[in-house]
Amino acid sequence: PLVTSEKMLADAQKGGYAVGAFNVENMEMVKAVIAAAEELHAPVMLQTTPSTIKYGTLETYYAIVAAEAKKAAVPVCLHLDHGSSFELAVQALKAGYTSVMIDGSHEDFEGNIAVSKQVADAAKACGIPVEAELGKVGGKEDDLEAEADTNTDPMEAKEFVERTGVTSLAVAIGTAHGFYKGTPVLDKERVSEIRKVVSIPLVLHGASGLSDEEVRECVRRGICKVNFATELRAAYTDAGKKLIEEKPDTFDPKKLGVVGMEAVKNLVMERMKVCGCDGKA
Ligand code: 13P
Ligand code: ZN
Ligand code: NA
Repeated sequence: PLVTSEKMLADAQKGGYAVGAFNVENMEMVKAVIAAAEELHAPVMLQTTPSTIKYGTLETYYAIVAAEAKKAAVPVCLHLDHGSSFELAVQALKAGYTSVMIDGSHEDFEGNIAVSKQVADAAKACGIPVEAELGKVGGKEDDLEAEADTNTDPMEAKEFVERTGVTSLAVAIGTAHGFYKGTPVLDKERVSEIRKVVSIPLVLHGASGLSDEEVRECVRRGICKVNFATELRAAYTDAGKKLIEEKPDTFDPKKLGVVGMEAVKNLVMERMKVCGCDGKA
């Protein structure tokens, strides 16, 4: 069924594992991610960024995910990823999204608090959980580009959570969106430092390109949600490219969809096991 992220993240925090959150762009990726969750009996979050929403619409993604979630035995959550404004967050709530992120990390501290609190208040009235971000995750997700050298300060995080009322917090510890050019340098100790003073679930962005061990250690230290986007996009497209190389006369989109779904499903199952959410639904 389609559910909010509240219980799944609370359960993850209690159980010492993380829920995998996977960015989806089309029906095939939605089906593949939910099929992986079903096979592993894992709770799952599917998420769309503002540029994905521009490619489809909130209503389109909601309809696809709701239809697939209805058939699923595992809990499925549809989350707005990197919500870029109060208005978009409200539109997502109206469209039926069951979790939203407001990303005010490009604002200064007070500006980030103001917009995050505004969204938290609106979402609370609908019973929907809100993720916000403090500090800057590197790389480029959508149109937002950030420098990687602004990790989350634990005491600021504590104040931020208290003043905004958000229900989960994305932290910056050196991860970046996209694949890494060199070896990423993560300040994993910082997760523990933040966890000591912040009681809500913590979220790790930019997981594509991280080793299994790095993800596991972040989860051990208190991360309850891990975001994967780029590697799914690459797996989906590479599978299609391979099919076209092998069978250049392919013209049926369903044939491309089938190999893409298979690749995404396998990748998502691997990542779920690393997060430890398999068998938790
Ligand atoms: P990656 O593209 O590095 O997996 O990052 C995903 C993410 O943080 C989505 O919000
Ligand atoms: Zn992100
Ligand atoms: Na990444």
